[in-house]
Amino acid sequence: METQIRKLSYDRIDEEVIKEAGEILKKGGLVAFPTETVYGLGGDALNPASSGKIYAAKGRPSDNPLIVHIAKREDLDRIAEDVPEKARRLMNAFWPGPLTLILKKKPLVPDKTTGGLPTVAVRMPSDRIAAGLILAAGGFVAAPSANVSGRPSTTTASHVAEDLGGKIEMILDGGQAVIGLESTIVDVSVDPPMILRPGAVTKSMLEGEIGKVETDKAIIAPDSGIRPKAPGMKYRHYAPRASLMVVEGEQEAVISAIRRLAGEARQAGKKVGIIATDETASRYPEGLVQSLGARSREEEISAHLFEVLRRFDDMEADCIYSEAFQEGEMGTAIMNRLLKAAGHQVLNV
Ligand code: TXA
Ligand code: MG
Repeated sequence: METQIRKLSYDRIDEEVIKEAGEILKKGGLVAFPTETVYGLGGDALNPASSGKIYAAKGRPSDNPLIVHIAKREDLDRIAEDVPEKARRLMNAFWPGPLTLILKKKPLVPDKTTGGLPTVAVRMPSDRIAAGLILAAGGFVAAPSANVSGRPSTTTASHVAEDLGGKIEMILDGGQAVIGLESTIVDVSVDPPMILRPGAVTKSMLEGEIGKVETDKAIIAPDSGIRPKAPGMKYRHYAPRASLMVVEGEQEAVISAIRRLAGEARQAGKKVGIIATDETASRYPEGLVQSLGARSREEEISAHLFEVLRRFDDMEADCIYSEAFQEGEMGTAIMNRLLKAAGHQVLNV
């Protein structure tokens, strides 16, 4: 299959292209599209055959449910029932935006889309290309992150083409995704609500709206053998081809540990990558050094993490050492993805 790539500008979104992409989805085809978090691999959420194609294109296990994306709040009630008051408050505060809610599903949503679960994940993205496409497709677009299963999520159209070129009908190119990490997932089918995946809508932002919110223990202590409640969180994920180790501790101790490890690996003939920050990058004399941005600006770090992991694949690094980040606010989401990419290899210095 030849994948068409269509560039769109937010200044003047070409409605003809959106319409054409919407028709592809209505006919059961697949279109990748930008969102404010990461690129999504879209199919008609109400068509089980489309969901089947999504799993196949990603090489994703079909017990891993898809997020249904909507563009109008009132569409929620066609796919979810018993929507609690707390869920409504979160929607009012954070939709459209990087927040996914788990709710009891209505029969309109095929089991194939929810991986057989009685619940459905719903998100209303703020990205205008995404919103236009969802409307043009009939209102309900299933979309996992547009990457091959297990690889880092995609934040540019060229990353999508790398992973899915030749397997899907179209890619809408809206430039670089602003946030760079996937949405926060909150299960509001339970009380107190529970965070299943941390993201740009942080715990304190959620608690500011609805009071106490819990966090899935499998996210906090992922090695404890507890099964995560979001099925997708159990897989090794976001992983570059190289082995990755996160080094945690005081800044000076981290820098000297990474310098030592990088030196040893190079002696052993390995191609070494280092994930640093603007504040520290110049301190590493050897290895392929990539900065994620200024440590003081979490939004820069999150926007570049997946891109940098992919760049090390292009450079064919054998092993990567990364500085750790402070937990709390966006840092929790950054460390969650970094630790998953590392398969939880952490060195405390
Ligand atoms: O930002 C995002 O959320 C992006 C963009 C494209 O919207 N999408 C995304 O989808 O990250 P995906 O499929 O890569 O991740 C969805 C996660 C998976 O871990 C999945 O297991 C979980 O959501 N999930 C989906 N439905 C669920 C449900 N009913 N109950 C629990 N977890 C669910
Ligand atoms: Mg994903």
